[in-house]
Amino acid sequence: MAGQRELAGKLAIVTGGARGQGEAEARLFASHGAAVIIADVLNPEGEALAKALSEEGHQARFIEHDVTNPDSWAKVVDLAKAWKGRIDILVNNAGIINRSTVTTTELEAWERLIRVNLTGAFLGIRAVTDLMAENGGGSIVNISSNSAFSGHYDPAYTASKWGLRGLTRSAAMEFAAKSIRVNAVCPGLVVTGLNASSPHLKPMIEMTPMKRSGSPEEIAELVLFLASARSGFITGEDFVIDGGFTAGAAYRRVAVETGIF
Ligand SMILES: NC(=O)c1ccc[n+]([C@@H]2O[C@H](COP(=O)([O-])OP(=O)(O)OC[C@H]3O[C@@H](n4cnc5c(N)ncnc54)[C@H](O)[C@@H]3O)[C@@H](O)[C@H]2O)c1
Repeated sequence: MAGQRELAGKLAIVTGGARGQGEAEARLFASHGAAVIIADVLNPEGEALAKALSEEGHQARFIEHDVTNPDSWAKVVDLAKAWKGRIDILVNNAGIINRSTVTTTELEAWERLIRVNLTGAFLGIRAVTDLMAENGGGSIVNISSNSAFSGHYDPAYTASKWGLRGLTRSAAMEFAAKSIRVNAVCPGLVVTGLNASSPHLKPMIEMTPMKRSGSPEEIAELVLFLASARSGFITGEDFVIDGGFTAGAAYRRVAVETGIF
């Protein structure tokens, strides 16, 4: 039930959990009783968050982790095994952006972004599913984007986030019979370290029908729902959470400019 400790006894891994949306997810999961592994390249931010959560009486550990590296994933799984002997939840949240176009994206930058945003989630799913299945199943949430429903100006980012929707569905089919659910969350604009200095913030907010960005905490609530037993019959789906942007921001603008709204 909402409002209760929904994740008591569960172990959750949040990649990119040291700041931004991942931090909000780690905090929310911990407050719901989960043992949380914060897995991020950002140390000391991750260490500080795990320490703060532990001092608040929650269960949290930080591990320095690069999602692009299979050996690094093996260490995350080893930590989960040694700590609680189980993995119930994986949030593939780590992500980067390029801010460049088809013309201006260097091949190296393209490959790096795809490796972090898409291959990282693939490696994560492969790393955790055996242990999840041993304990009766689990929930994997891939953080995609509402740019996975249109053509965003950063092509590598767009391709990676569309790719995550496909990976989500493929993995959901493969692991459904093992009671491992796989879903995607597709946020719109959320102001974090990823984009805080971007010139796109103002026009994005103006275009968003609700006229604001989302908060990391609002995204975390949806991720919690998908991670918890409340969504027990949902798998292979993607959930847009973007203040109405994908629902029809372009038509809304036309309606406003022509006096219909
Ligand atoms: N902020 C937005 O507007 C927005 C919108 C849609 C989707 N998203 C997605 O949400 C997710 C979280 O982004 P955020 O907004 O919190 O940004 P953020 O930059 O604050 O957080 C991303 C985290 O990922 C970590 N990370 C980067 N590369 C890594 C790697 N190789 N291994 C492990 N960790 C790594 C970073 O250190 C950081 O802590 C990302 O996947 C992003 O693409 C963000």
